[in-house]
Amino acid sequence: MGVVKADGYGHGAVEAAQTLLAAGAFGLAVASVEEALFLREGGIRGFLLVMGYTPRETVADMIRQRISVALLDEDHGRELAEEARPWVEKGAPPLPVHLKVDTGMSRLGVLPQGAKGAVSLLGDSPYLHWEGTFTHLARADERDPGPTHEQLERFQQFLHGLRLKGLHPGMVHAANTGAALQFPGARLDAVRVGIGLYGYLPSPHLENPGLRPVMAVKSRLVQVKRLPPGTPVSYGGTYRTQEEEWVGVVPLGYAEGIPRLLSNRGHFLWQGQEVPIRGRVCMNLTILSLPREGKRGDEVVLLGQQGDEVLDAWDWARWADTISYEILTGFGGRLPRYHVGKREDGR
Ligand SMILES: Cc1ncc(COP(=O)(O)O)c(C=O)c1O
Repeated sequence: MGVVKADGYGHGAVEAAQTLLAAGAFGLAVASVEEALFLREGGIRGFLLVMGYTPRETVADMIRQRISVALLDEDHGRELAEEARPWVEKGAPPLPVHLKVDTGMSRLGVLPQGAKGAVSLLGDSPYLHWEGTFTHLARADERDPGPTHEQLERFQQFLHGLRLKGLHPGMVHAANTGAALQFPGARLDAVRVGIGLYGYLPSPHLENPGLRPVMAVKSRLVQVKRLPPGTPVSYGGTYRTQEEEWVGVVPLGYAEGIPRLLSNRGHFLWQGQEVPIRGRVCMNLTILSLPREGKRGDEVVLLGQQGDEVLDAWDWARWADTISYEILTGFGGRLPRYHVGKREDGR
């Protein structure tokens, strides 16, 4: 399953979905019903799973659009079944659900020891179709395999318990990118890979099997000027020129996805070299120090390659004390996006 939540990790959910399905993905997974419906409106068909919470008011849409949903606990299951009932009685197929088991993330899902109610509901309800059972791994991107093995073991025991009772957990899945790469035993019937499909490792210390970032972010200087020595730059004057200094202004700021934490810390690429951000990142503008005169219209690369230099989301994550996921998803939404590359139809 290709995970295309958060607007396809900032790449465009519909375009990412189309690309992944054309490349052979079995299906797609998202976080919310809104994201799932957005994909259907965008013409995306086939298997689609909402991994997060599905509110009861949305069950009719889920049935109509053939979207699979996660069942989080017995109460939730009851609500889903109640809402599905009138539709099923009118001849619609039962709502496809995947039981979410909390084996160590302590987030969504039933605890294995408290799953009895949800399990019997699922096993018995004619309004729900038990299509799958899954868990989510909290530490599969780490070097120490111990915690992941423990979670997988708990999941396997849970599945074993179901089978002993003659119950069928449907398709079983657990692995995110980290587990798909590092724990072959976690691949089960399906994997739910997100970050890896966008060309990033879930953690920068893992060995890269050849992933390359999908997203590049580029802009152009909109103004260039030479500042006298001792000039404060941007809000708060947190940077002051030492000597005469060329600066170039980029028309993107924190509203477009540049973390404000990059103020006086981050770098972009200009004329094939890294140039530092000076002063605070503004809402829609960022100021760079240029080693020599530049001109309006010069290309600036925020993420990607220029000449021999490359910047990726893990570089940014280091500067902003975060992870590549947050950097990539931060670019969802406001920027114009161009999807380039090979398409199945050859266009
Ligand atoms: C339940 C679930 N499965 C799979 C993924 C994909 O994770 P990753 O992007 O690390 O591959 C996520 C994303 O965090 C998730 O929440």
